[in-house]
Amino acid sequence: MQRTLLIIKPDAVKKKVIGKIISMVEKEFAIRGICMKTLTPEEAKKFYKVHEGKDFYEGLVEFMSSSPSVGVLLEGENAIYRLREIVGATDPKKAKPGTIRSLFGTNIRFNAVHASDSPEAAKYEIPFYFPNWDA
Ligand code: CMP
Repeated sequence: MQRTLLIIKPDAVKKKVIGKIISMVEKEFAIRGICMKTLTPEEAKKFYKVHEGKDFYEGLVEFMSSSPSVGVLLEGENAIYRLREIVGATDPKKAKPGTIRSLFGTNIRFNAVHASDSPEAAKYEIPFYFPNWDA
């Protein structure tokens, strides 16, 4: 069994699609935790530190710490890969029809959700929302 982190980002929370997104992943995975919180700017900077220096980094940090997001801890066989298939490409315009980002994303920044992209990333990311769990 593998664990992964889904974040329902502030844009999707504002669009009131938390329930729709959770029902899409609930069919496929066991939900082990749900946590709504507003990341501090420091947490958002740390969370996205792999993107530090890129032109979108400051805007991304500001967006992710602007209002509440929802961390969803998911568990299942091959969960990291399978969740990324359901989430779709980073740019909602390039995401396959029916994926979460194609349905609920607005543009490449306001793309509705984040999903861990590797076991190492899941291990790093899960504690931002679930400090008592690891991957
Ligand atoms: P996410 O999967 O959370 O990982 C990094 C995030 O940076 C990504 O989703 C987008 O929200 C954002 N991002 C990636 N590329 C760009 C870009 N070119 N312009 C603005 N935001 C971006």
